[in-house]
Amino acid sequence: MEKDVKKVLISESEILKKCSELGAKITKDYEGKDLLLVGLLRGSIPFIGDLMKHINLPLEVDYMDVSSYHGTTQSSGQVKIIKDLDTPVKGLNILIVEDIIDTGRTLKTVVELFKHRGANDVKIVSLLDKPEGRVVTIEGDYIGFEIPKEFVIGYGLDYNEKYRNLPYIGVLKEEVYTK
Ligand code: IMP
Ligand code: MG
Repeated sequence: MEKDVKKVLISESEILKKCSELGAKITKDYEGKDLLLVGLLRGSIPFIGDLMKHINLPLEVDYMDVSSYHGTTQSSGQVKIIKDLDTPVKGLNILIVEDIIDTGRTLKTVVELFKHRGANDVKIVSLLDKPEGRVVTIEGDYIGFEIPKEFVIGYGLDYNEKYRNLPYIGVLKEEVYTK
């Protein structure tokens, strides 16, 4: 597994420090408001786990599975709901927790869906942002790290469902997906 990593882009300790900073900021911004965290499966699991420990509010958590990648390193341009929320979102303040924003299609679709369902407010926290990959207009409200247009793995992010368990963000060797 480690042998497929070209380089470590963001270390585990840098990620954890960022989770605590983002959590403190979110705590301040949502003070006195209700809050539903919506983790997008499966990539956001490590991030939402570390982040929510630093949000000192009586929040609720739910998960949704939306897919746009089908075993490739290129976005297919299609977004499909695989598992919907169990929570009705009408009137709620939602903070979507995502691993990475690339083309922006996934988040744009999900934000529009929640607004359509009558959410009061929809915001985004993403651990990573690849601004160069954007094809639709969408911005994260809280971003951990901006990264270059490289395919990354680890800390929830996969290639063909593998490498999610790496504790850091790494760049995958090109030879892994060109062979
Ligand atoms: P978007 O809809 O193109 O913004 O894609 C966002 C989704 O694509 C993320 O939730 C990831 O699952 C996946 N993705 C985008 N870039 C990467 C990457 O570098 N590594 C692994 N997954 C990625
Ligand atoms: Mg994802």
